[in-house]
Amino acid sequence: MMIFSVPTFDGKHNLIKGGSWISTGNETIRESRYAFRRHFYQQAGFRYIESNTKISQDFNAYETDELISQYLEFHYGDEYFGVPNYPKACVEIIFKLLGDNNPCRRALDIGCAVGRSSFELARQFDFVDAVDFSTRFIRNALNLRTYGEVKYADLRLSDKVNNIELTQGDACNLKDKYNNYDLVFAGNLIDRLYEPKKFLTEMAKRINIGGLLVIASPYTWLEAYTQKEQWLGGFKQNGENLTTYDGLERLLSAHFEAVSEPQDVPFVIRETARKFQHTVAQLSVWRRCA
Ligand SMILES: C[S@@+](CC[C@H](N)C(=O)[O-])C[C@H]1O[C@@H](n2cnc3c(N)ncnc32)[C@H](O)[C@@H]1O
Repeated sequence: MMIFSVPTFDGKHNLIKGGSWISTGNETIRESRYAFRRHFYQQAGFRYIESNTKISQDFNAYETDELISQYLEFHYGDEYFGVPNYPKACVEIIFKLLGDNNPCRRALDIGCAVGRSSFELARQFDFVDAVDFSTRFIRNALNLRTYGEVKYADLRLSDKVNNIELTQGDACNLKDKYNNYDLVFAGNLIDRLYEPKKFLTEMAKRINIGGLLVIASPYTWLEAYTQKEQWLGGFKQNGENLTTYDGLERLLSAHFEAVSEPQDVPFVIRETARKFQHTVAQLSVWRRCA
């Protein structure tokens, strides 16, 4: 605020925000401000613009306050009905599988939401790329990195959390720089992607030979997220049921082999104070062999 406008903040002046068609110079810009006593006649109005183009407003459920608080609770809140914290449990399974011989240099946590699995992966990996489509999720994960120790006393983030790069990005349209990984973890992501086949097909060029692709998902395919022709399973083909695991195997077999039998990992999401969603995801591990 310019010092000469201070006297106009006196309850006797009105403020006009933005220039009008009659303004000149830098007074035409929308940042310009005019304070006038109420009896002065001024050029003020609205510009009304109409367009023939149909306006479509895309709605991302993962940007809403409701989903943000649900996922903060899911990743960092209490455990319910004795079911362990899901992102933490998935990473514990991964660490057991890795053993001593696998390098732990670079990991990608794709669809990381508010970041719990990324923080857990950083305990063992030198560097973690954490990517999610939702800017608000990423912003919350960044805040947690800064203030998490204060808000969630028992989180005890690894001192390597600064080796995590949290970025907004699209799993189906990832930049080339996302490559050279020893591990890619996709937790509850594939059945929320608009092009899961493209995402999976590209994994071979992003994971090192010998590196792991870990996919955990309850395979809840919904047309609201994924068009039916993109579903990996959950339908009949030539009269036979095709499971999502079969679909994964088919799609990945050119470059990956299954490391072990897939395993169930349960999770509980608290939807409201008195309503909980109890689901069982399947976690499968694939090693890049070609
Ligand atoms: C069901 S949540 C799972 C989040 C987390 N991995 C977990 O297990 O709790 C799905 C996540 O995928 C993200 N997502 C959806 N489509 C995506 C895309 N195309 N690229 C990156 N992330 C995506 C959503 O924003 C959301 O954070």
